Formats: sequence, structure tokens, C-alpha cells
Amino acid sequence: MKMKTTQLIAILWWVVAMMALPILAHGSIDQSPEAVKNWFKELRHAKEKLTELHFYVHDRVTAESPTSVLVAQANATSKSPTMFGATYVFDDPMTLGPEPSSQIIGHAQGISSSASKEDDASQIAIMNLVFNDGKFNGSTLSVLGDYPFFQKYKEMPIVGGSGAFRLARGLVTAIIYAYNDTTQNEIIDFHVLVLHY
Ligand SMILES: *[C@@H]1O[C@H](CO)[C@@H](O)[C@H](O)[C@H]1NC(C)=O
Ligand SMILES: *[C@@H]1O[C@H](CO)[C@@H](O)[C@H](O)[C@H]1NC(C)=O
Ligand SMILES: *[C@@H]1O[C@H](CO)[C@@H](O)[C@H](O)[C@H]1NC(C)=O
Repeated sequence: MKMKTTQLIAILWWVVAMMALPILAHGSIDQSPEAVKNWFKELRHAKEKLTELHFYVHDRVTAESPTSVLVAQANATSKSPTMFGATYVFDDPMTLGPEPSSQIIGHAQGISSSASKEDDASQIAIMNLVFNDGKFNGSTLSVLGDYPFFQKYKEMPIVGGSGAFRLARGLVTAIIYAYNDTTQNEIIDFHVLVLHY
């Protein structure tokens, strides 16, 4: 029995569409209290999976339209070698590639404070990675960690999430991709490994 090419194409289309369904469904995940309750009830049947994400974060302090603003500091901050107390609020675009013109997939929104008095220049970073594209559109990851400016790898724990990332845990490894001493603007390479359901 030979199948017509058009029939074959129709079947293939259907298979592809069915495979894409969970991805599309994620983008418009039901976040009503009833849906969340159901989600928890079904949790024991759910399998934890590992998702790997890679993108770049653009932190612009001195641009015409800065994405990171100094909101507080102490009198002693300017005299401190580590700028102890300097506190920024940021809303940094996350892009697929390192170029600022690359496709934006979300924003890293949070607060960072220079939290060490000694010379290691540790910053405490509290941020939400808010995705607005692709299968994680509308989902967020919450990050709370130490951002040691002068260390190559800045490993920050993922402490939770929302939407597709409910009860997420994982790690962000941040690496400075480009830093301009004059402008203090930086592009940071984010490697995300996250366990979620
Ligand atoms: C900070 O400096 C200002 C101006 O010199 C001074 O008026 C203020 O008392 C100082 N604050 C503290 C907490 O030392
Ligand atoms: C992401 O979700 C929002 C809200 O549901 C929607 O308006 C927007 O078009 C979506 N973006 C993409 C790229 O799918
Ligand atoms: C740093 O920024 C300044 C001001 O925009 C620019 O003139 C300079 O070329 C930049 N340096 C590097 C290494 O990109």
C-alpha cells in the first residue's frame, strides 16, 4: 500500500505539531490559583528535568539610557577600595548573542550591593531572570548569590522560579565577556543549569 505524498506530509505535520504542543503550552502556562494547586497535586507524577540556557546580560551604567542605576551609598563608600555600600538597581536586557543588537529573550532585574569591605570586591546579587520569548515566555528564575567581581567564574544559586520554573533549583555561572573601564558597562556571559519539572 503506497501513501500519497500529500498524505505523508499531512501526517508529518501532525506529528511535528503534537511535538510542539508542550512548548507552546509552556508559553501560556495557567497561573491561576486553581491551576497551581493542581500542579502541586500532580507533582509526585512529574519528572525533574535539567534545562541548560545560555545568553548574555547587558549592564549599562553610563549609557544615555542606563539599565543600571546607583540608588544608594554610604558616606564612606567613595573612600572604600571596594565601594562598600554602593547599591544598584538594574533592568538588564538578556540577549542570545553578545552583540547588544542580538535578539532579546528577557531581562535580568534586580539589586546588587558592594557587600565586602576587604579587597575581594564581592557583591550580593538578588535578581529575577524574566523571560519574554520562546518556550519560557512569562516564566522567571530567582537568583540570589555572591558576584565576586574579580573572579573569573561567578557562581550564583538559583533559589526558585515561576511558571515553567516552579520549584526550580540550579546554578548560574557568570563570566564577564566585556568590561569597559571608562564607562563601567559590562556584557556578562550567563550559563544557566536548572532542575525543574
Ligand atoms: C554624611 O555626610 C554628610 C555631609 O558631609 C553629613 O552631613 C552626614 O552627617 C554624614 N552622615 C553620616 C551617617 O555620617
Ligand atoms: C510572550 O507572552 C506575552 C504575554 O502572554 C505575549 O504578549 C507575547 O507576545 C509573547 N511573546 C512571544 C515572543 O511569544
Ligand atoms: C570604552 O568606552 C569609551 C566611551 O564610550 C570608548 O571611547 C572606548 O573605546 C571603550 N573602550 C573599549 C575597550 O571598548
